[in-house]
Amino acid sequence: MTLDALKRQAAARALEHVEAGMKLGLGTGSTAKHFVELLGERVRGGLKVIGVPTSEATRADAERCGIPLTTLDELDRLDLTVDGADEIDPSLNLIKGGGGALLREKIVAAASDRMIVIADETKWVTRLGRFPLPIEVIPFGLAATRHAIAGVFAKSGVSGQMVIRKGPDGHAFVTDGGHWIVDAHLGEIPDASRLAELLNPIPGVVEHGLFIGMANQAMLAGAQEIRVVERR
Ligand code: A5P
Repeated sequence: MTLDALKRQAAARALEHVEAGMKLGLGTGSTAKHFVELLGERVRGGLKVIGVPTSEATRADAERCGIPLTTLDELDRLDLTVDGADEIDPSLNLIKGGGGALLREKIVAAASDRMIVIADETKWVTRLGRFPLPIEVIPFGLAATRHAIAGVFAKSGVSGQMVIRKGPDGHAFVTDGGHWIVDAHLGEIPDASRLAELLNPIPGVVEHGLFIGMANQAMLAGAQEIRVVERR
């Protein structure tokens, strides 16, 4: 079975948790795209839900699939967000942002009563950090912000190269919010919660890809089975 087929299976399992009338956060990335497509099939079959997309890409996909959309300007809470992840650890802490949508993804997840993460089993790790940590930054004062981030890394017992993400045109990748992303190649992070807490107050850091204590459940699709993991 291909990885893409596994992603679709995880998405299908998450869809079982969707009920009529729900207000849903719609994630971003190749796995979340499967969820949007499958949800679209149900909506076209008569299911009544409303979605809040976590990126312009997901907005376009959801519109194409006929899913009614709103925003977190109109609503203040959502019932459920379903989103992918770049890494998932046994506490269901996540690294997200490989697709560059981490800021809206975190705002939407934080406004949701529940978050289900969907992934193929290759995303499961015993410790976060093999995947470079995306940090969304304001371009203004970038050298100073990088210096502050490096200080936090030293305090947290991690180190590694920080690379400004490039877009397909070779220029800095610009997020939906108009910011840049620094990808930090850290390797295993001994204490992801502490690192997240220390990154939060840096003025030039808009958000980072550590989602700590946000996911309630993970659907991990492997060749033999879909493993459902609950946050303890
Ligand atoms: C988007 O910014 C990310 O957080 C994605 O959710 C994450 O990169 C997973 O994407 P895939 O499902 O494409 O692996």
